[in-house]
Amino acid sequence: MKLALIGYGNVGRALARLLRQKRREFAFTITGIHTLRHGTAVDPAGLRQAPPFGPRAASIEEFLDAAHAEIAVELTTLNPSTGEPAIGHIRAAFTRGMHVATANKGPVAHAYADLRDAATRAGLGFRFESAVMDGAPVFNLWRHTMPGVKVLGFTGALNSTSKVVIETMERGGSFEDGLAAARKIGITEADGAFDVEGWDSAAKTAALANVLMDARATPQQVSTRGITRLTPERMQEIVREGKTVRLISRGRRTASGLSLRVRAEVLDRCDVLACTPGTSNLILFHTDLMGTFGTVSIDPGVEQTAYGVFSDLVELSRGVNGAKVVSGNGGVGRHQS
Ligand SMILES: NC(=O)c1ccc[n+]([C@@H]2O[C@H](COP(=O)([O-])OP(=O)(O)OC[C@H]3O[C@@H](n4cnc5c(N)ncnc54)[C@H](OP(=O)(O)O)[C@@H]3O)[C@@H](O)[C@H]2O)c1
Repeated sequence: MKLALIGYGNVGRALARLLRQKRREFAFTITGIHTLRHGTAVDPAGLRQAPPFGPRAASIEEFLDAAHAEIAVELTTLNPSTGEPAIGHIRAAFTRGMHVATANKGPVAHAYADLRDAATRAGLGFRFESAVMDGAPVFNLWRHTMPGVKVLGFTGALNSTSKVVIETMERGGSFEDGLAAARKIGITEADGAFDVEGWDSAAKTAALANVLMDARATPQQVSTRGITRLTPERMQEIVREGKTVRLISRGRRTASGLSLRVRAEVLDRCDVLACTPGTSNLILFHTDLMGTFGTVSIDPGVEQTAYGVFSDLVELSRGVNGAKVVSGNGGVGRHQS
């Protein structure tokens, strides 16, 4: 299947590497790459590795028309305030009959119901597994394995950057040292303030509530406080008390509606929300039929984010809502060469 990549940063490049690694089993071809400052590359027959970039296409519409792809892969920078321009990119893809996979949580946090309905009306797929917890199954877990279960709430340690910053300060480093360490491994948002001020977590909280609890929330409706007030001195004190801090997302149904919040919480080191190392993420689901259970991802990196997108692409190539969307081998099969 042909892919048009919108955004080619940490995740886009990791996805391109993964597609090359798996090309004999999964026949995806990148026919276009569109970026903000590095220009646009298009070849409907398939771009070669490290393609030359020409001038930037004048609009997303012009790029998508030129790429002639079946799936648009939206991997642009998170805008936690509005979800744009990614929402517009996704709508433009649907208008052209293209399925969409994205790792960008902005559109799911701001416009999930509208985008889901637009995709359904057009008979297209819309997938976003990497928007929360990288490649670890969160949304697909619900989609495929939990019939009849109602989500009453969730609790998650979902932001890796804040965790790296906290652990750096616990070891005596500065806040900035921690942010630089997170940036070095490619897990930080383009604007690192979004991570430490809690906006990334607020967007994930809204996205989870929208998809799992039909909330129609936005990140602005999540009561949010990040970790920016933490200092190395305060972290040392907390360590001496045998505790630590995690940026925790919580969502729950209450009598008056949904309660959504993000807070830097002081936790015992042995608390299940605190005891995983490094960039690890964890989510607990509180449900009616399955009680509380969870998913943990130990030390995920950008390769796992790319895998989440890859899993979306495989699913889209196999069919949407049980219906085949492509003919022949289902779009993805063994390469014949
Ligand atoms: N990194 C992770 O571990 C991770 C994990 C989960 C989810 N995500 C999400 O995945 C997305 C991509 O993350 P990343 O780390 O790859 O970001 P990144 O390294 O900052 O790359 C962003 C890419 O988007 C392009 N871009 C920005 N605005 C654009 C626009 N208006 N039109 C076309 N291209 C545009 C940039 O172009 P230029 O190259 O020209 O600047 C760049 O290629 C983000 O939404 C992020 O929240 C990332």
